[in-house]
Amino acid sequence: AKGTRDILPGEVEVWQRVEQNAHRLFSLYGVREIRTPIFESTELFAKSTGSDTDIVTKEMYTFADRSDRSITLRPEGTPGVVRAAIENSLLRRGEIDRFYYIGPMFRYERPQKGRYRQFSQIGVEVFGSAHPATDAEVMEMAISLFASLGIEGARLQLNSVGHPECRSVYRQALKEALEPHRAELCADCQRRLDANPLRIFDCKVPRCGEIRATAPVIVDYLCAGCRAHLAGVRECLEMLGVAYDLNPRLVRGLDYYTRTTFEVVSDKLGAQNALCGGGRYDDLVASMGGPPTPGFGFAIGADRLVMVVADLHRFSAPADIYIVHLGDAALKEALGASRALRGFGLVVRLDPDSKEVKKQMARASAWGARYALIIGEREMERGAYSLKNLAAGTQQDVAARGWDEIRREVGNAG
Ligand code: HAM
Repeated sequence: AKGTRDILPGEVEVWQRVEQNAHRLFSLYGVREIRTPIFESTELFAKSTGSDTDIVTKEMYTFADRSDRSITLRPEGTPGVVRAAIENSLLRRGEIDRFYYIGPMFRYERPQKGRYRQFSQIGVEVFGSAHPATDAEVMEMAISLFASLGIEGARLQLNSVGHPECRSVYRQALKEALEPHRAELCADCQRRLDANPLRIFDCKVPRCGEIRATAPVIVDYLCAGCRAHLAGVRECLEMLGVAYDLNPRLVRGLDYYTRTTFEVVSDKLGAQNALCGGGRYDDLVASMGGPPTPGFGFAIGADRLVMVVADLHRFSAPADIYIVHLGDAALKEALGASRALRGFGLVVRLDPDSKEVKKQMARASAWGARYALIIGEREMERGAYSLKNLAAGTQQDVAARGWDEIRREVGNAG
């Protein structure tokens, strides 16, 4: 279907590497994996993501199930995690309060490079701390994941959207500044001007962007508390050695943010350049019926992350050993050998359908094998196999079923 794609072997290895690094790195921060459903009731997203965001008004995959309940394929992960934390009383107990998730999200957007209708996010949600050090620590975690993958040219952009009172003062100022330009704005933005002027920052129409560029910015309207929070975040980022740019127009297209918002953008991606977006949401949990609990999180677009990793290097698993077998008895011996050698963690391939040596040797090089282990009836009679180093072109006898010897030889070269 439009906006979906297959991820094939070759690219899948990059996904696996990305996911492995995420599992390993997040555990260092005490962040635990959570798996929530891919579909939820529609009202969850209207209540949290925001009823006048583009995501909720234009982009959701919503349908009625057979009992006429309104169901939506999740467009983002935060609402489901908050719901799960509340329903399972995780926040009241306060033992597990840092979560990550990896999985598919769905948005009915216009597909282009780096933008799909089914895409995958690697997300983190951290609850219970309003301290600016938490913002910095969690952002640093995203940066560290990028660093672990050797990604270059990614920049952290930082802003604060204040708390609701700062924002309502700002909203008024924004409205007054844009009102004289009302007729020049697109129809959507004219509606936004009345309903929620901040959403004008999400508009992709060029003329709206030009008008917006002259408007006041929210950081100039922050109260003392929100200003101090932003200053604290900046100090902590500096302590952690994380470079960032202030971007006063970074408002983000979701309604739940308070204070810190951020994105990580890559100069290798073109128009859809956001690798990661997130921020603080101190009112979301309470607004969804949970105990008042501050929150901070982000989601990385895994498809985009893989694109910038794949440009740098490929991860694949060529075979360590290809087993060449000659004759029926040798094939059975080869099956046993493959099991024993895989038990040592070696990547082993064999091809039961081929009978000729030449064909099997060709397969061995097609699969990038480093060694061929040749098991023939003649060799078996002698109590030996033959081990060929395919790069060096050298060949030696090894004792039949001498797994340790084979492992030593193959391991040394690896
Ligand atoms: P978001 O900015 O809507 O935030 O999405 C986060 C990331 O998901 C984007 O930066 C982008 O890399 C990726 N992404 C979004 N839409 C698409 C798409 N159509 N195709 C490919 N990639 C896409 C959120 O979703 C928030 N839940 C983040 C968050 C968590 N805030 C606090 N906690």
